[in-house]
Amino acid sequence: MNLILLGAPGAGKGTQATGLSEILNIPHISTGEIFRDNIRRNTELGKLADTYISKGELVPDNVTVQIVKDRISQKDCSKGFILDGFPRTIAQAEMLEDILTTEGKSIDKVVNIVIDDEAVVKRLSNRIVCPSCGETYHLEFNPVEDNKCKKCGEQLVHRDDDKPDVIRNRIAAYHRQTEPLVEFYRGKGKLMNVLSESSIEESLQNTLYALGLKGI
Ligand code: AP5
Ligand code: MG
Repeated sequence: MNLILLGAPGAGKGTQATGLSEILNIPHISTGEIFRDNIRRNTELGKLADTYISKGELVPDNVTVQIVKDRISQKDCSKGFILDGFPRTIAQAEMLEDILTTEGKSIDKVVNIVIDDEAVVKRLSNRIVCPSCGETYHLEFNPVEDNKCKKCGEQLVHRDDDKPDVIRNRIAAYHRQTEPLVEFYRGKGKLMNVLSESSIEESLQNTLYALGLKGI
């Protein structure tokens, strides 16, 4: 199954994609995570991406699309993939369609995780992440005892772009550039809205239900 997870910053795309990836046994591809990994390793891509991410702006389409094109052509994506945070503009969505069509593939479903802006701020300001493996926690909703990653033991940190002024810019960029994708995919009959107001586990169950996978 080829899936897209759409939604505002902090909607829970990464959290749900991690759960879905384990259940469906297909890779979770987060463009944000690929950029952060490059920033950590101080690559040329990381240096470029950081100039946008640190301000809460989108990385240019041509850069982002090439990364996704390379990633989905890898063997582990042959049985499906979950795109988290991509596409984020209409132009990216159109380029994705072209890439998939060339490979004889298509997107099966687009899950739009619905949340209001106030809840986003609460989720992001209390999010803690593992700087090594990217695992995500929340001080209130998904806490850890000793501030150490359960997967790799690394000390957890706040994400650099989870500062109040950057969060505001990310939300604005979402409404301006990414929200139009809701209508884009609705028009293609692929969109399903999933509410993310309940707990992490219930939100994942809502998504599984919407995908017709309840009971797996
Ligand atoms: P990216 O990393 O994609 O960030 P984002 O879209 O802003 O989304 P987040 O990762 O902040 O939130 P999320 O929806 O994954 O929520 P999470 O699961 O962590 O992108 C970062 C930057 O990279 C962008 O700003 C841009 O600059 C650049 N970029 C990336 N992709 C790009 C593209 N395609 N084009 C151009 N630029 C691009 O959950 C949030 C918190 O809430 C966590 O603490 C979690 O534990 C908690 N939580 C989750 N679900 C629930 C729940 N149901 N109940 C309670 N708490 C919950
Ligand atoms: Mg994320």
